[in-house]
Amino acid sequence: MRILSVCAPFDPITEKELEELRRLRKEGGYSLVLVVVKGEGILSREEREQLLSLALKPYRHMHVSEEMHGDLHELSEDFLKDEEKVRSGYFLQAARGIRKILAEKPYYWEAAVDLSCTKHRAGHSREVAKLSKELAHVHHLDDFLAWEAGLLHDITKAWSKEKGEEILKVYAPEILEYPAPVYHSYTAPVFLKTAMGIQNHQVLHAIETHTLGTGRSPLDEILYIADKIEPTRGYDATKETELAKRDLDAAFELVFQEAAQYREKEK
Ligand SMILES: [Fe+2]
Ligand SMILES: [Fe+2]
Repeated sequence: MRILSVCAPFDPITEKELEELRRLRKEGGYSLVLVVVKGEGILSREEREQLLSLALKPYRHMHVSEEMHGDLHELSEDFLKDEEKVRSGYFLQAARGIRKILAEKPYYWEAAVDLSCTKHRAGHSREVAKLSKELAHVHHLDDFLAWEAGLLHDITKAWSKEKGEEILKVYAPEILEYPAPVYHSYTAPVFLKTAMGIQNHQVLHAIETHTLGTGRSPLDEILYIADKIEPTRGYDATKETELAKRDLDAAFELVFQEAAQYREKEK
């Protein structure tokens, strides 16, 4: 029996890597391919092996292995760049069998924020996620969804105006009338849906409305409030935070008014 062992970080395995494994097996005439996780990754070795097993499930001639046997092959740098692309949020380029789990579980969500945003923006996003989760918990709402919306709400904030325009022309041309800083709240849900595969309507709606404050579901209000008052904003928001824990609608109104006053002053 001819065996080939292929190693890479597989953080996570991409569709291109899976195609390469199939090609190597076929062209080399191997009866078995052992797929071995090698090197450091954002996920632990065990987590990467679990994702690999899922991705390899349909292929009976390929197995996850801790040890290498037979001929050895290491995947090239180009494949590792594709892995990074997936970690930056392009989950639909991951191997087919793991796309759904990457969209539903936060394996690479923080990595996607870190790779897409400035350090400052990534820190802000984590704080918004934390405060959103806390507010959802206090109000007996789904705190995971609140954390998710908080973490991902600014994921397209670093996009250029041109890139934003390109997407909005297709998905929401009416938003082009607004100033460019509004764009990201409408491009983020498009990115979440089309690149990450995230479908939760409540999360997408909260993110879409977080800049203009046009959403009034409890999650919309939580994200709007948390975005404005999280601690790295650098002002004392004790009053707003306390109010948000008692009465979301009232806190939304207060923060909305304060934001309007602030915009007036800046003019
Ligand atoms: Fe934002
Ligand atoms: Fe924000």
